[in-house]
Amino acid sequence: MDLVLYAPGLGYYSAGSAKLGSSGDFVTAPEVSDLFSQCVARQVAEVLSITEGEILELGAGTGRMAATVLEALAAEGVLPERYSILEVSGDLAQRQRERLRSLPVGLRERVVWLERLPERPIRGVVLANEVLDALPCQRFVVAGAGIEAEPPVATVARNAGVDWLSGRGPLANASAPARSVVEVGVSMDGDRFVERTASPDEALASACEALLSELPQALSPGYTSEVCLRLEPWLAGVGDCLERGLILLFDYGLPRSHYYHPQRVSGTLRCHFKHRAHDDPYVNVGIQDITAWVDFTRVAQAAVAAGLEVAGFSTQAAFLLAMGIERLAASGSGDIVEQTRRAGEARRLLLPGEMGEAFKAMALIRDYDGALAGFGLQDLRHSL
Ligand SMILES: C[S@@+](CC[C@H](N)C(=O)[O-])C[C@H]1O[C@@H](n2cnc3c(N)ncnc32)[C@H](O)[C@@H]1O
Repeated sequence: MDLVLYAPGLGYYSAGSAKLGSSGDFVTAPEVSDLFSQCVARQVAEVLSITEGEILELGAGTGRMAATVLEALAAEGVLPERYSILEVSGDLAQRQRERLRSLPVGLRERVVWLERLPERPIRGVVLANEVLDALPCQRFVVAGAGIEAEPPVATVARNAGVDWLSGRGPLANASAPARSVVEVGVSMDGDRFVERTASPDEALASACEALLSELPQALSPGYTSEVCLRLEPWLAGVGDCLERGLILLFDYGLPRSHYYHPQRVSGTLRCHFKHRAHDDPYVNVGIQDITAWVDFTRVAQAAVAAGLEVAGFSTQAAFLLAMGIERLAASGSGDIVEQTRRAGEARRLLLPGEMGEAFKAMALIRDYDGALAGFGLQDLRHSL
């Protein structure tokens, strides 16, 4: 997953495919409607009015959220000193530059692109929409009768992954029976990529052991899912950047007990190619997006370990309603066509069958005791 998303010059995020938008593979909330970013801006304004300081956006996509947030903050008179963007994708950073060039100079000059997380912690707000789901995760298969392909190992789960076999020899050998090795690709030289399970390394073994022991219901042998071990170092790094203020995260995901529900037997890994979602990561390699849902219990635990406080957790719909999306949608100017368009966009962001329920908002704070209006309608922290 790491290679097909991020290998320099070849990975989905490091090469030049369109990715977001109608000519790309998927659409995110800021691309669906500026109403989303206008609501985000209201939450940002509430925090900036207390902390002052700046905004850091991680993974800014096309730059549309940055542009809308800056315009909305300018209208409210609560502009940040700086709007920094940390973007791992070179071509998305280029699109952001082009998009933000059209802003009035007083806004444009506040935007800077960073090569790495800031060394000096900031006051203000860190934003990340749909970044957590893009962090490479690891797949595991719950171990048990019929699952171990190698001499029994004392682990609760095996690592499911991709291996490379040189030449055209048999797929199976004594330590890996044929049924557990599946050919998923052939190179021009006839070498094969296979999907198989293997003993987990120590980090994956202990992560699986911890999470499986915490679940309310045991999972059956063969149950396959994902765990994102990049989350802890990522959040520790982001947390270190915040001296005072809010980290506001949006993504599709669930609390752990729902994520690893016994009925979700094949996990949450999904691929997006030209607006079609499917579950085959072995096609369109490097030109399709691969994501996994976010285990928000893991995010909360990683946040606490990083010295942050989980100040809010709600559905995206509850966040947007608390920030007044209905009034924003109704109050904009424009003719009936424009108003109908805005109402449709709001429905897409809010409805349970669209983005309203699957997407969650999470607020992590450090040294901040002000209000967070976006989390005033619903508090799902008990479910984490
Ligand atoms: C699914 S897109 C979301 C883009 C944008 N936030 C939006 O909502 O439209 C994921 C974004 O995260 C960026 N990204 C992926 N891994 C990242 C990382 N480790 N740090 C910062 N950005 C990252 C990608 O390049 C891309 O801009």
